[in-house]
Amino acid sequence: MFQSKQLLLLLSGLALCQHASSAPAVSPQSSQIANPNYGPIPGESPVYSTTYTVEPPFPGNTTGAVLNTTSGPPGPDDVLFQNILGAEWIIFSFYQQGITKFNESSFTALGLPNTTYTRLLQIRDNEAGHLRIFQDSISPSSVKPGPCKYEYPFTDAESFLALQTIIEVASMAFVSGMEYQAMDPAAASALVAIGETETRHNTWSLIDVWNANPFSGPVDTIYPYANQILEFTRSFIVAGSCPPENPVYPDPAQQLATFELASNTSSIAPGSHVTVTFETQPEFADSKDYYAVFFHGMYNTSMPFDTKTNTTTIPAAFDPTGIIITVIADAEGAPTDTSVVAGPLIVLENPATVGLALAT
Ligand SMILES: *[C@@H]1O[C@H](CO)[C@@H](O)[C@H](O)[C@H]1NC(C)=O
Ligand SMILES: *[C@@H]1O[C@H](CO)[C@@H](O)[C@H](O)[C@H]1NC(C)=O
Ligand SMILES: *[C@@H]1O[C@H](CO)[C@@H](O)[C@H](O)[C@H]1NC(C)=O
Ligand SMILES: *[C@@H]1O[C@H](CO)[C@@H](O)[C@H](O)[C@H]1NC(C)=O
Ligand SMILES: *[C@@H]1O[C@H](CO)[C@@H](O)[C@H](O)[C@H]1NC(C)=O
Ligand SMILES: *[C@@H]1O[C@H](CO)[C@@H](O)[C@H](O)[C@H]1NC(C)=O
Ligand SMILES: *[C@@H]1O[C@H](CO)[C@@H](O)[C@H](O)[C@H]1NC(C)=O
Repeated sequence: MFQSKQLLLLLSGLALCQHASSAPAVSPQSSQIANPNYGPIPGESPVYSTTYTVEPPFPGNTTGAVLNTTSGPPGPDDVLFQNILGAEWIIFSFYQQGITKFNESSFTALGLPNTTYTRLLQIRDNEAGHLRIFQDSISPSSVKPGPCKYEYPFTDAESFLALQTIIEVASMAFVSGMEYQAMDPAAASALVAIGETETRHNTWSLIDVWNANPFSGPVDTIYPYANQILEFTRSFIVAGSCPPENPVYPDPAQQLATFELASNTSSIAPGSHVTVTFETQPEFADSKDYYAVFFHGMYNTSMPFDTKTNTTTIPAAFDPTGIIITVIADAEGAPTDTSVVAGPLIVLENPATVGLALAT
């Protein structure tokens, strides 16, 4: 049904690029945007639910970083919200590129409901609201990162919808993981509410796009090292395209090696024996044992990782729902972020055909 991810990546040079390169780095309205009362307010304005225009809604129609207006100490969760705003620009821009490239016919031609394009507009509008919420959550003493240029490995409406699925489950996972970092309970609670919204987006696509089971078992997958997932989203950023005032994204970043499953992988069902292909090379010490650590639901299971053959086995005990977050670590259970040497790879179990295409 899908072209392989490698093929999509090869073709990604064709991807759209929406942001004008001549735009100034700092928004002309920087000081206005810094005021949370400026522009539509999330939860009050219909802009973030039902704009329905091809043009991006506020603040997605702005460029440049929003500078700090004070020089006091940063807010306790400023770095968290700078990181998540950097991620949100990637998610918002993904939807905005799809809205610009496709129309209703692109999806009805695939036999999908005639509401598909409208749903994508509504999700895009929600994501604009997230941009505003995260901007407002950063204190006036810290820079609010602005949009970079982005390229995504989709080439047609079908590959766009597959990537939509992985972007939503990835965002659900990093949002729940970021709660480990939140200092203020109000910030943690805001993250839960945002994660709930992303889950609705994912549930819609499971029902209407994939005709699949809309649920993911009793609990979605918890992965505590959220910045490692953000690191993986950096592949969508065009190198050197971010406003110079933007903070490092993500902060901190470990520069981990990445991997996917071998292109000949025929099953990602629990119990499958799989071969891993490294995209960037990890350093393995001959004297150490390595583990593939699989996170699913509340728990993780470690399996031996054979560094001679690059093979391991997806734990047979897992329920084939939701996602399995996979890392290679030098200690069982990946007890610290520094024990992770490669990953994470998000393996989508449902629908499995989409998951196989995205993980290989
Ligand atoms: C962005 O859209 C808002 C309306 O939602 C509008 O008031 C504002 O002028 C627009 N800004 C730019 C830079 O186009
Ligand atoms: C913004 O923050 C920087 C670094 O803390 C500081 O030097 C600068 O004065 C701040 N800008 C304003 C307008 O206070
Ligand atoms: C979508 O775009 C195609 C190609 O430009 C056009 O032929 C078609 O009429 C459009 N469909 C809708 C519903 O706007
Ligand atoms: C959308 O599809 C439904 C049936 O699935 C149909 O009743 C409705 O008329 C269609 N709407 C448009 C605008 O084509
Ligand atoms: C898949 O490819 C790997 C090399 O990447 C090879 O070692 C393995 O035997 C192949 N597996 C199958 C089932 O063909
Ligand atoms: C395992 O992966 C390493 C790192 O990418 C690579 O050098 C090595 O050739 C791979 N081994 C096999 C058997 O494919
Ligand atoms: C993985 O599970 C083990 C055993 O329950 C636990 O000690 C470890 O902290 C878990 N790893 C993470 C990263 O939560």
